[in-house]
Amino acid sequence: MSENAVEVNNLTKVFRTGIGNQYVVAVDNLSFHVKAGEVYGLIGPNGSGKSTTMKVVLGLMAASKGEAKVFGLDSGDIRARNETGFVPENPYFYKHLTGAETLKFYGKLCGMRGKALKSRVEELLELVGLENAAKRRLGGYSKGMLQRIGLAQSLVQNPRLVILDEPTAGVDPVGSREIRDLILKLKDEGYTVFLCSHLLEQVQEVCDRVGIIFEGRMRREGPLEELIKIETQTAMTLENASPELLEKIADLIAADDSASIIETGHPKTTLERLFIQIAGKRSKESKPADEKEAS
Ligand SMILES: Nc1ncnc2c1ncn2[C@@H]1O[C@H](COP(=O)(O)OP(=O)(O)OP(=O)(O)O)[C@@H](O)[C@H]1O
Ligand SMILES: [Mg+2]
Repeated sequence: MSENAVEVNNLTKVFRTGIGNQYVVAVDNLSFHVKAGEVYGLIGPNGSGKSTTMKVVLGLMAASKGEAKVFGLDSGDIRARNETGFVPENPYFYKHLTGAETLKFYGKLCGMRGKALKSRVEELLELVGLENAAKRRLGGYSKGMLQRIGLAQSLVQNPRLVILDEPTAGVDPVGSREIRDLILKLKDEGYTVFLCSHLLEQVQEVCDRVGIIFEGRMRREGPLEELIKIETQTAMTLENASPELLEKIADLIAADDSASIIETGHPKTTLERLFIQIAGKRSKESKPADEKEAS
């Protein structure tokens, strides 16, 4: 049996609104688990309870009912927090510190010192692709670079689990792609990633399993491929098919009693992929500002 990095069992979180006896049920009897080593995405519209769930898993908020566990430990347990890195929805950074100073600062907060801290900072800057921007102040970082330094900061004490609340919010498609690649790299390195987002296409590209939450309740859950597969349909993409060949195929299908063609045409790329093809090329030809500045 594989180990679970996160286990949420019948979690309910109720907030009193402060107006009379009114309350909000932010999370309603929610259960799911994140297996060690996988990338799990919790998706749902605004206000569906994603951040609240994460805060309970992080031990930042107590459950009204139910429980959350991290590697088998109660989420409030200090040992569970040692295993967990977190990048919040709107991370706050000290703008006057450089990238390297920021990581050093958080490393010291985690009790690291000396050579071990220095080499961890260098390792993390390289991991998130900011080694050339290490000596620049965060005030001059782009939103994508800030998200990456946030990710590096969350890994300072070498946790096994990383929790990312909307990791690509406000980041342009090229920056988002870098963060997605980074999430996949983290998975390759053995980290477990638990993220939440409402940017479905991005979730689709990185997550092994997905839970769809709405009004605090789990609506669908499972391996991504199974969730998005349309069981009764089959797609065939042909290169250089002549009109004659297409006609023959159509005739064959027409002769079959059960199958029918639903759609034919040229497959389209997504607007996002098109944008990346154009903007991604430009960033390779002329390196972005952060990489130009030699340290
Ligand atoms: N501290 C709080 N006090 C009162 N209500 C709260 C509090 N935090 C969250 N809520 C309410 O709980 C519900 C779930 O909020 P939550 O922030 O978990 O949603 P979310 O899925 O993260 O949304 P978003 O996509 O906007 O980040 C919302 O109705 C929200 O208004
Ligand atoms: Mg949120």
